[in-house]
Amino acid sequence: MLVDVPRTTPRYNGALPGVVEGERPTLDQIRRELGDCRRCKLCTGRKNIVFGSGNPRAELVFVGEGPGENEDIQGVPFVGPAGDLLTKMIAAMGFSRNDVYICNVVKCRPPGNRNPEPDEIAACEPFLRSQLLALQPRAIVALGKFAAQTLLRDTTPITKMRGTWREYEGIQLMPTFHPAYLLRNNAEKRKAWEDLQQVMKLFGKQPGSSA
Ligand code: URA
Repeated sequence: MLVDVPRTTPRYNGALPGVVEGERPTLDQIRRELGDCRRCKLCTGRKNIVFGSGNPRAELVFVGEGPGENEDIQGVPFVGPAGDLLTKMIAAMGFSRNDVYICNVVKCRPPGNRNPEPDEIAACEPFLRSQLLALQPRAIVALGKFAAQTLLRDTTPITKMRGTWREYEGIQLMPTFHPAYLLRNNAEKRKAWEDLQQVMKLFGKQPGSSA
């Protein structure tokens, strides 16, 4: 059972053509607007746009950085090794991938899995913000620095931001470590789990329960 947490309606951010002020877009509308996107240089190397996946009525959204090789091939976010860990983290929280929605800051794979560049983030950000406007979840988990810093417009390092509730357009946002970072830094998993437990508490879930 989910607890009822009052929240305000996210404001329209004004950045996406095709989304009318005062109206809540649908994910399908946003995907259509994205089209065969050529708005930044990442389009030249991509195999597939990775828009997002999961429940369009999700109360919980995970935002990552950008597709890697496996995601680029399949067109689905978080399906490689970091995705396997994210899937386990979601299950440990008492959710399945079908309950939540998963997307990224940039929708196309940066070559060689390099970090997304500011112009690429700027080109893609309106789509992420519109996805969140469409979803209007109860909570967002920002996975890693690019998700947290982009959504919050805050350059504080993720090591300092993680574990403290923030607010994104009236939605509670929990910054935590990116699963790919956790794969390289096993000792940090405990901190990420503490962060996720705070999210579970918001949803009335206990570790080890399937409520
Ligand atoms: N890392 C991300 O940030 N997103 C993905 O979809 C996969 C790996």
